[in-house]
Amino acid sequence: MYRTHTCGELRLEHQGTETTLAGWVQRKRELGGMTFVDLRDRYGITQLVFDENTSSELTDKLKKIGREYVIQATGLVRERSSKNKNIATGDIEIDVKALNVLSASATPPFTIEDESDGGDDIRMKYRYLDLRRNPVRENLVLRSNMAHAIRSYLNEQQFIETETPVLIKSTPEGARDFVVPSRMNEGEFYALPQSPQTFKQLLMVAGFDRYYQIVKCFRDEDLRADRQPEFTQIDCEMAFVEQEDVLNTFEGLTKHLFKTIKNVEVTDFPRMPYSEAIANYGSDKPDTRFEMLINDLTEVVKGKDFKVFDEAEFIGGICATGCAEYTRKQLDALTNWVKRPQIGAKGLVYVKCNEDGTFKSSVDKFYAQEDLQQWAAGCNAQPGDLILVLSGDKSHTLDALGALRLEMGKQLGLMDKNTFKPLWVVDFPLLEWDEETQRHYAMHHPFTAPKPEDIALLDTEPGKVRANAYDLVINGVEIGGGSVRIFDSELQAKMFSLLGFTKEEAEAQFGFLMNAFKFGAPPHAGIAFGFDRLVSLFAGLDTIRDVIAFPKNNAGRDVMIDSPSTISDAQLDELNLRVELKNK
Ligand code: AMO
Repeated sequence: MYRTHTCGELRLEHQGTETTLAGWVQRKRELGGMTFVDLRDRYGITQLVFDENTSSELTDKLKKIGREYVIQATGLVRERSSKNKNIATGDIEIDVKALNVLSASATPPFTIEDESDGGDDIRMKYRYLDLRRNPVRENLVLRSNMAHAIRSYLNEQQFIETETPVLIKSTPEGARDFVVPSRMNEGEFYALPQSPQTFKQLLMVAGFDRYYQIVKCFRDEDLRADRQPEFTQIDCEMAFVEQEDVLNTFEGLTKHLFKTIKNVEVTDFPRMPYSEAIANYGSDKPDTRFEMLINDLTEVVKGKDFKVFDEAEFIGGICATGCAEYTRKQLDALTNWVKRPQIGAKGLVYVKCNEDGTFKSSVDKFYAQEDLQQWAAGCNAQPGDLILVLSGDKSHTLDALGALRLEMGKQLGLMDKNTFKPLWVVDFPLLEWDEETQRHYAMHHPFTAPKPEDIALLDTEPGKVRANAYDLVINGVEIGGGSVRIFDSELQAKMFSLLGFTKEEAEAQFGFLMNAFKFGAPPHAGIAFGFDRLVSLFAGLDTIRDVIAFPKNNAGRDVMIDSPSTISDAQLDELNLRVELKNK
């Protein structure tokens, strides 16, 4: 037996018990003829003591061991003379009688402590050492507990967990596919699933009725803090349901997770149409932990010879409560912030609403006090507040105001990590127009059903058609998205044609699905949660990398295994790829 107890288990009541522990050496200290070793495993740390009575054989072994050696120690549990209140085993120590070195360790490249001295890159390269650190492991334990709770909730609700294939044909979720060459089918490729979308719909045709899967998805897209090229979805589909049924079921799952994992009661799941989210928050994933809504000032500010505003399509303002005292330096910093290429505003206009009822603005040359009074009314601003105004074309200006709102929320400490504000964003547009390619794209995916009352618009004003699509947003993070599906092959064919597919292209790519719909497709709808995002929200983290055991860096690389990498000529030949690469 390697161990009788774990390193987090022993307490005063075990005094006198003989124990064998195994683990990693956290640190070794010598103090007046005694040697103390902190032994660590995932359960905790226990202090081992070697005193003057320790045999010379044992002392020799002890001399050799260093940080991160894996050792096994046997001895008696005894009360410590100086207790350590910071750890659960702090009342006891082990008087070691036998010691075994199970595995030596090279000097670790960074300290394995809660606060490590290692930078990001080195910790990624030695991720298995990083995972030894408590905070990193705890995130993965949280992930495991959440997966368990999700399975138990959905199983309880009669969902069938079904695996779908990973080597498939392209699924259109809007990103690029990762492709895998097929050796047996020369010149042909599999695509890795961007999601199991088409399979889960086929499972509904198959009569499974309720499906789920905690599943890896792959998307070749630019990476950000909340995006990884391979990530995990809680993917679900239900038959004989409407939007309302899906929302209720997944509100239930979300509440269950908050309750069982965090002991937090989250009760309120308001619904907000997409158009309202964009108009008030400049975002389709509003952070509703704070107000600071966007106010349309277009009508109020025009006609005073201020060219910038007179020529703008849209002028909008937000009111930062209690910020009238912002200094020149702070305002300059904000102006520079909105001018960064990521935000792209041309400039920032401000109005300070002074405590004495007067106003001081950056456009005093053009606007009298009475004018500014109207701006303040338009923004619901009170004395002591600061109004920040941006202008330009409508869509970019709303975007920029949305970003500025979040920045102000951050600066003013309005985004408490322990407050959770869920929100369903509903009534998304069905289609999105792309200027560059001059065509419509599906805003969610091509299987999403239009709102029945908008179907007539498909032929006349497709851009105005709303979809039965919904996103779950929590604290400004898009946690999940889904839709009611088209289950009629004719409507589906029409949708493909609106999206610019020829009949032949649609047939080649999705013929299997449209064919399946000819054999009795039930009405169905579904949703997928981003599991990594959900765990990271629960853990209070800013990036999903920290909740993934072996994540990729921002360049999509796994620096630990050094992937992606080249493959041998022999492998290329076998896949018949070498010739093609050379011809390029
Ligand atoms: P969607 O594309 O909205 O929907 O994806 C669902 C959820 O998955 C998460 N997500 C990601 N998480 C990490 N890294 C990524 N690169 C990434 N991309 C997406 C988000 C998102 O809300 N098949 C549909 C679902 C459906 O209609 O049922 C789909 O995949 O949290």
